[in-house]
Amino acid sequence: AQYENIKIDVVGAKKNVGLISLNRPKALNALCKDLFVELGKAVKDFDADDKIATIIITGNEKAFAAGADIKEMQNNTYSSNVKAGFLQEWEDISNCGKPIIAAVNGFALGGGCELAMLCDIIYAGEKAKFGQPEINIGTIPGAGGTQRLPRYVGKSKAMEIVLSGNFVDAHEAEKMGLVSKVFPVEKLLEETIKLAERIGTHSPLVVKLAKQAVNQAYETTLKSGLQYEKSSFYGTFATEDRKEGMTAFVEKRAPNFKNN
Ligand code: HXC
Repeated sequence: AQYENIKIDVVGAKKNVGLISLNRPKALNALCKDLFVELGKAVKDFDADDKIATIIITGNEKAFAAGADIKEMQNNTYSSNVKAGFLQEWEDISNCGKPIIAAVNGFALGGGCELAMLCDIIYAGEKAKFGQPEINIGTIPGAGGTQRLPRYVGKSKAMEIVLSGNFVDAHEAEKMGLVSKVFPVEKLLEETIKLAERIGTHSPLVVKLAKQAVNQAYETTLKSGLQYEKSSFYGTFATEDRKEGMTAFVEKRAPNFKNN
């Protein structure tokens, strides 16, 4: 497929990592509608491609994404938002069954921070800056910033970020649990690909179940999450890959997973 606002590539030694690079550098990768339509399609295509194990979304050194496109939404109205279902394409990202890792260098602001939080894991370069500065322009986060951020960092820090509009740097973001690891800028993508490849050594089927189970922790009560986990865990015993994994361990050899 030909894209104008993103670039896609297949990377990793086994060519099983789908890399999506946001590519509107002149606007600091501001997330206009066309970009999001393309991003949603690229994620869907990689999700459907059996050769792809893991997906990475990245930007460039200056910006992961500086937010929703302010110029594009400047003249929106309440009724135009409701009628068009403004931002509804963002849900394509959370519907992806495969793991998505955000590799964040530079600014991840507003919708950019929210896009990173829609991913399953956030790795950052040490110059990354996160924030929800919508308050500076008279609005509030609209793609999860008020809901996902508190689940990552707790109420006090989320309130501070959302109400002040201040940015947090990569190391602070790591300390508060928003980011799982920080790397030198030029090492970020390489390290992210390594993690993607590591995930790609496992059974894709079981990786998908594991992702679904962890997500329950953010979407339901502890009691029903634990129930979900238990039945999904039991369910892995109906798979060939579970049998192969345990057999390989007992036979002291590497498993050969078949995605079944
Ligand atoms: C449209 C944007 C943009 C954005 C930057 N640009 N962010 N265009 N939407 N969100 C454009 C600028 O207009 C400028 O274009 C070019 O990118 C370079 O930006 P500068 O401001 O000149 O760069 P710099 O001085 O380095 O400042 C970087 C910055 C600043 C601190 C990141 O650009 C900034 O504050 N951007 C807005 C951040 C923000 O408020 N994000 C939240 C958006 S609201 P020209 O053509 O003038 O050179 C949001 C709502 C979420 O995300 C709702 C759900 C998605």
